[in-house]
Amino acid sequence: MKVRKAVIPAAGLGTRFLPATKALAKEMLPIIDKPTIQYIVEEAKKSGIEDILVVTGKGKRPIEDHFDSVPELEQNLKDKGKTELLKLVEQTTDINLYFIRQSHPRGLGDAVLMAKDFVGDEPFVVMLGDDIMKDKVPLTKQLMDRYDDTHASTLAVMKVPHQEVNKYGVIDPAAQTKPGLYDVKRFVEKPAVDKAPSDLAIIGRYLLTPEIFSMLETQKPGAGNEIQLTDAIDRLNKIQRVFAHEFKGDRFDVGYKFGYLKTSIEFGLRHPEVKDDLSAYIKELSKKLK
Ligand code: G1P
Repeated sequence: MKVRKAVIPAAGLGTRFLPATKALAKEMLPIIDKPTIQYIVEEAKKSGIEDILVVTGKGKRPIEDHFDSVPELEQNLKDKGKTELLKLVEQTTDINLYFIRQSHPRGLGDAVLMAKDFVGDEPFVVMLGDDIMKDKVPLTKQLMDRYDDTHASTLAVMKVPHQEVNKYGVIDPAAQTKPGLYDVKRFVEKPAVDKAPSDLAIIGRYLLTPEIFSMLETQKPGAGNEIQLTDAIDRLNKIQRVFAHEFKGDRFDVGYKFGYLKTSIEFGLRHPEVKDDLSAYIKELSKKLK
């Protein structure tokens, strides 16, 4: 069956960016000129996803507004002949988005469970907003290509420095069935550094079969006393195979301050409008601060 649907959990409080996220949804923090969630939506679109459900919560309405049309603004840009800007604005509405509110967030697993009716009986992808991925083939498409082959759930993983494994879901890999595609013995959420079964961390892109929902419905709270998606996937792996696909592209973690800054600088150094000025400025500044 074709993978057509994506779920983007976006109910988190954004405590790592306070006070900026007191009244502003963290998914709306921009990297140069685009909110972070737009990068995720663009990856979905480029991968051939047709329908996206965003799981939101309090204070997240600006996300809906961002992907809606603004006739006055569009008319104004048309009248002034600003066709490039008009194109950028129009592109944001060129996708089917649905929204559901999670009133009592109880963890990532719980957020994904909100998508049960939207997903129905189809395989689907979950895309977390804290990671922006870059590769020739978008990571979501890479997972979809694996699915065409295996018809099984597949998670994206990436090697991370060993002392950071406790921030992630981590896999206990078995043999590689194909280059870069692992059979998995166990999925562990936020293991202690000395107990982690490997350095292969789950990085926020999941392709899941609909059987995950019956696991989530009966999932007990795990790490941080939250309903963990990783725990439900570990149980799913006991009744049907779940694979891990190793991502070799670039991952930009915008979920913490330094990662957000690094991403802004790197994207700035690639952005046609500001790259030359930014590069000259960084050189000048590092001379001045020496
Ligand atoms: C979530 C998942 C974790 C995964 C991580 C990737 O954790 O629970 O398994 O490794 O995203 O970013 P969070 O970052 O929400 O704590």
